[in-house]
Amino acid sequence: MTRDWWKNAVVYQIYVPSFCDSNGDGIGDINGIYTKLNYIKELGANVIWLSPVNKSPMKDNGYDVSNYRSINPQFGTMPEFDRMIKKAHSLGIKVVMDFVANHTSIEHSWFKESRSQIDSQLRDFYIWRKPKKEGKNLVPPNDWIAWFGGPAWTYDEKTGEYFLHLFSPHQPDLNWENPVMREEIYCIMRFWLGRGIDGFRLDVIGHISKPLNSKGELVFPDGNERLLVPNGPRVHEYLQEMNREVFSKYNIVTIGETVGATVEDTVKYANSDGTELSMVIGFEHMDLDGDFKWTDNKINLLDLKYVFEKWQMGLHGRAWSALYWCNHDQPRIVSRLGDNYEHREKSATMLATCLHFMQGTPFIYQGEELGMTNAPFADINDYRDIESINAYKIFVEESNHFSKEDMLRFMQLKSRDNARTPMQWNSESYAGFSKNEPWIMVNPNYTEINAEEQRNRPGSVFKYYQKLIQLRKEMDIITYGDFELLLAEHSDLFVYTRGYQNKKLLVVCNFSNEERTFLLPPGFTGKNILIANDDTHRTYTTELSSQGYRPKPCVNLSPYGAVVYRR
Ligand code: NOJ
Repeated sequence: MTRDWWKNAVVYQIYVPSFCDSNGDGIGDINGIYTKLNYIKELGANVIWLSPVNKSPMKDNGYDVSNYRSINPQFGTMPEFDRMIKKAHSLGIKVVMDFVANHTSIEHSWFKESRSQIDSQLRDFYIWRKPKKEGKNLVPPNDWIAWFGGPAWTYDEKTGEYFLHLFSPHQPDLNWENPVMREEIYCIMRFWLGRGIDGFRLDVIGHISKPLNSKGELVFPDGNERLLVPNGPRVHEYLQEMNREVFSKYNIVTIGETVGATVEDTVKYANSDGTELSMVIGFEHMDLDGDFKWTDNKINLLDLKYVFEKWQMGLHGRAWSALYWCNHDQPRIVSRLGDNYEHREKSATMLATCLHFMQGTPFIYQGEELGMTNAPFADINDYRDIESINAYKIFVEESNHFSKEDMLRFMQLKSRDNARTPMQWNSESYAGFSKNEPWIMVNPNYTEINAEEQRNRPGSVFKYYQKLIQLRKEMDIITYGDFELLLAEHSDLFVYTRGYQNKKLLVVCNFSNEERTFLLPPGFTGKNILIANDDTHRTYTTELSSQGYRPKPCVNLSPYGAVVYRR
């Protein structure tokens, strides 16, 4: 396996509007990040990924870019951005920017020009189609549904055609069939790399190629009627071109968000020969509670283990992926798979152990290192996220598909806003995030859960993450080892080994809120503990049985206990 710098890196994701507000307008900003770089250094992460900071009308919090070569004035200025990168580099922290290449904002000058007339020079930068005739009616070219609700096509009066938008009508899709448009994107990438950034996280990159038939119609691939159509026919061709034109000329990391990609797709996207991306952000483990987001289904541990095993084994030596539990699109992991209350710290550290010993590059989402939880949003007016607000409109107000109570319950479990409440820095007003009221409510548990309280407390979630990161830096086995799942059928324990050059690690995680016992596999005595999330793990030996079986070492795990042994 090649040794690229990003393989044993640890990425810290910053959701800029919610990280740190330096100027008191209630919105996080670049100078705020600047002041917190030492915190990230102290944690040990060596890469930061910033959510989009380009100019944007913020319909989707920056994932609707109106000028790719600018900094959103809400977040700061270009000199402030440059200063921040410089300081990050001086601390040994690399900076990764989000790049939204699938779509722009309708406010982007390209789109304004494109929609201005049918024979505009930039018409073909976007995906325009004539209405379809259905009897006497004119309807959209196909029946695709947008991710944020409603049809994926919006009719434009002026030119009498529809434009495609896989997300919201504010986010028209770029036409990747157009080589001139592609070259523009590559130029913009070079612009940012020239400012010294160290890579890109490529937003929904698996969607840039749309399935077209010979007549140029957009079609669902046979039998594959999905909301969005990922992994289109030319996606690898485009990424190889992007790689040749841009990535291959720099020593950077490229992280592709690939919704719907399988292991075999990933082997193409993030192959070890480096002709496309460095790694992907896969979704299969996050989508185990159902294809449809608004539900209170729980993720089943057996499914979770099956999926991780498939990815760990399937990518080993072939491709690379991000390891994550949390990001700005997912609810908080302690609230999802752990325990918000009595066992919050235990479950947060157990989940971290489970993830951080796998193969891949770990991503920590701001506040995850403190065990931050979902927020107690009680009312639709508490929400800010376009996806959540639209879903509420569609499923409660327009269709009555769900009662208000049910929908609010699902949202409290799954809304993206759970991740977007302000970072909890200390127990002062607004959690030390801002001097004034933030754009989204602060989770009231900040008086108890905050960075200041955890930074110097032995046994805190923060301290635990610090240790996990340190171990990854020190031990090649965590980055390069192979993976074997044990006890695949156990409903509460997630147990696996990593092996590398005669060494072995055994990772044992208890996903239940009760004690569990585990018989150690041959070669492990239970004595050599690398890390554990409490000191009550007792290894004991089974007694000599009447049949004369030899005593064997067992471990007794406390609720949400986690322990890693080495051999
Ligand atoms: C994925 C991003 O992570 C999400 O926040 C955004 O809404 C969509 N892509 C659309 O850009």
